[in-house]
Amino acid sequence: MRRSQRKNRLIVFLVTAAFASLALYLLFKFGPQLRTLLEAQMGGLASQAETIVKVLQLVSLGILAYLLVRALNSFIFGLVFRLRSGFEAPTLMRNVFSIVGFTVLFLLIFSYFFPLVNLGALFTTSAIFGVILGLALQDTLGNFFAGISLQADRPFQVGDVITVGSQRHTGVVQEITWRAIKIRTFQNHIVLINNSSAAKEPIEVCPRENLNARLVYFSTLYTDSPAKTIHVVREAVREADNVSDRITPIVRIRNMGDSGVEYELKYWLNDYAKYNDTDALVRQRIWYAFRRAGLNFAFPTRTLHLERKPRPGLAEGPGGAITDRLAAVDIFAPLSAEETVMLAKASVSHVFAPGELVIRVGDPGSSMFVVHNGRVSVQVTENGRPRTVATLSEGDFFGEMALFTGEPRTASVIALEETEVLEIGHEAMKRVFDTNPDLVESLSHIIAERRQGLVARTEASSADSDESAGLLSAIRRFFGLG
Ligand code: CMP
Repeated sequence: MRRSQRKNRLIVFLVTAAFASLALYLLFKFGPQLRTLLEAQMGGLASQAETIVKVLQLVSLGILAYLLVRALNSFIFGLVFRLRSGFEAPTLMRNVFSIVGFTVLFLLIFSYFFPLVNLGALFTTSAIFGVILGLALQDTLGNFFAGISLQADRPFQVGDVITVGSQRHTGVVQEITWRAIKIRTFQNHIVLINNSSAAKEPIEVCPRENLNARLVYFSTLYTDSPAKTIHVVREAVREADNVSDRITPIVRIRNMGDSGVEYELKYWLNDYAKYNDTDALVRQRIWYAFRRAGLNFAFPTRTLHLERKPRPGLAEGPGGAITDRLAAVDIFAPLSAEETVMLAKASVSHVFAPGELVIRVGDPGSSMFVVHNGRVSVQVTENGRPRTVATLSEGDFFGEMALFTGEPRTASVIALEETEVLEIGHEAMKRVFDTNPDLVESLSHIIAERRQGLVARTEASSADSDESAGLLSAIRRFFGLG
C-alpha cells in the first residue's frame, strides 16, 4: 500500500472513531430524554422506545468494536508479525482474525444490551434462520474453506505467474483473500477467481523462483543448413535481455513442414512475468541473425522450380570454387588447367552434418573425396575403442586407398562439423592417370605412409619403399595402366 493511501485510511479511521464515540456519548448522556421523546412520538409505547435507543447504542458501540478489531489487526499483523517473521501475514489469516474478533465482541455487547435474549437458543432452535444462513453463506463458506486449503497447500504465492481453468486466465498473482485469487493479467487487468472455482480447476503455476522455459517457433527454407541455423539462432538468443545464462538455449527441428524446416527454440527466463517482451525480443534477434547469416524464413508458398539440372559440378569452369579447390590439392598439382576443370565437372558435392559418417570402415568404395569446407576425423577401432588417426580439413583428401587398390575402406571418416566434400569417381581418376602416369607414384607413397599411420601411431616412420613399390604395381593393375 502506498503512503498516501495509508494516510487516507488513517484519517477515515480517526474520523469514524470520533463520530462513533460522540454518538455513543450523546446516546448514553441523553438516553432518557430521547426515550421520552420517542415515547411521546409513538403514542406511549415505552418498551419500543427503549429498544430503539438500545439498538442505536448497540450500533455505535458495534462500530467502535469494529474499529478496535481493525486497529488490533493492523498492530498485530502489520507491525508485530512483520517485525518477527520478516514477511507480510497472509490476507486470509488477517481476515479470520477480524471476523472472529468482531463476532466475539459483538456477542458480548449484544448480551450486555439484551441480557434476556438467549442468542445460543436463537441460533440453535431457529431452523428457518439456519436454512437462510446456510443458503446465503453457501458460496461464501465454499470460498472460505477453499481459501484455507489454498493457504495450507501453498501451491503458488504472490508474484508467481498462473494460468487458471478452461478460460485460461493468465497473470501474476497479486493477492489470495478469503474469497478469491486476484491476478493481474498481461493487459494490466485485474481478474478475480473464486477460491472454490479455482479449487475445482487445473492451475498451471510458473513459480517466480523457478527457471521457467518458453518455446518460440520459426521455420527456414529447405536450402538452409540445420547445423548453421541452430548455431546462429542459439548464439543470437543467449545474449538477449532476461534470457537466463544458467542454461544454454536449445534449438531443434520439430518438423519437416510443407514450406520449410520447422524449428523450436527453448530458452529459460530470469523473470518469467516478462515472457511476452522476451519472446518478442528473441524473435527480433532471430530476424537480425538470419539477415546477417544469409538464412531465410520459410513462409507458406509453393515454388515451382523449372530447372534443367546439370550433374553437380558440371556447371564448373575455370575459376569456379570447385576447380580452385581441386587445383589447390597437392596431388593434383601436376594436372593441367583443362584436366582440373574436367575433374571438377566430374566431382559431386555432398554436405554432411556434424557427427555424420562419411565413410564406414570395411565398406567397399570406388571413389575418393576432397574436403571442400569443414573438417573430418579419420578413425579406426582399437581394443573396442575408437582412435583418431588423423583430422583432415579444407583441401585434404581421403578415400583414395579403396579407390586405388580396390580393397575395403581402411578407416571410418566422420564429419566433425558441417562439412562439404567433393566426391571423385573411378572413371574420372582413370582419365587423369592416363595422361599423368607419374601421379600414381606419388599416390602410392601417400597411401603407404597412411597405412603405417593406421597400424602403429607410436612407431610411425617413413613409408617402406618395398610397400610403395608393391602398391604402385597394384594401382597400375587395378586401373589397367600399362
Ligand atoms: P579408404 O581406405 O578408402 O577409406 C578410409 C580413408 O581414411 C582412407 O582411404 C584414407 O584416405 C584415410 N586414412 C586412412 N589412414 C589415414 C592416415 N593415417 N592419415 C590420413 N588419412 C588416412
